[in-house]
Amino acid sequence: MKKITIAIDGHSSCGKSTMAKDLARRIGYVYVDTGAMYRSVTLYALRHGIIADGKIDEARLRAEMPNIDISFKFNPVTQRPDTYLNGELVESEIRNMQVSSMVSPIAALGFVRQAMVARQQAMGKEGGIIMDGRDIGTTVFPDAELKIFVTASPQVRAQRRYDELKAKGENCDLAEILRNVEERDYIDSHREVSPLRRADDALLLDNSHMTIGEQNQWLMQRVEEACK
Ligand code: DC
Repeated sequence: MKKITIAIDGHSSCGKSTMAKDLARRIGYVYVDTGAMYRSVTLYALRHGIIADGKIDEARLRAEMPNIDISFKFNPVTQRPDTYLNGELVESEIRNMQVSSMVSPIAALGFVRQAMVARQQAMGKEGGIIMDGRDIGTTVFPDAELKIFVTASPQVRAQRRYDELKAKGENCDLAEILRNVEERDYIDSHREVSPLRRADDALLLDNSHMTIGEQNQWLMQRVEEACK
């Protein structure tokens, strides 16, 4: 089967990453979670006082961009790649509420996006890659052979995020998570640079009422068709 580029975009917390990681493992492709890259920049900014009281020092962040190295290493235990920030494993920390609440404004900055998109294009130039994010089918790989736009209702997505955080033992509030999901949807789709939107040639996958098994089957069929 020929190796193609698969672009998966969509709203936050709709299970995109889990779905894309599992698909990559099944078909032997490299998986890149671009949300983890924006989250890592946010974590760096928080740790270095570049974000204080919810305000971003843009000039400092711009100057620090070359010092932010983000990489992925395959974890044989989870069978998924883990995210590293300047060599430190940050896979868990980049998912906490503090990072989640600041990542959208960080991802809306043009110079941050420019740096991330360049790194993503370099990672995917050989094909055989599944990349998930918000602008993969529209900006990063507009010529991807397969583009999927994933969504689910905000309530379903908030509940999934809540269950995920609870399972990790984090203290969280469903109403606050729902607010965060809706706020991120708004910022992601209204920002000036690369707003979240479905590419004209992307297939729509609404998984609000789908089981993981149904979703996997749907995906495998789309991959087989795109690889013909
Ligand atoms: O997929 P996620 O929830 O981990 O993404 C975190 C944030 O990063 C989200 O607010 C949208 C933003 N993002 C983006 O703007 N472009 C991408 N390619 C990936 C994520």
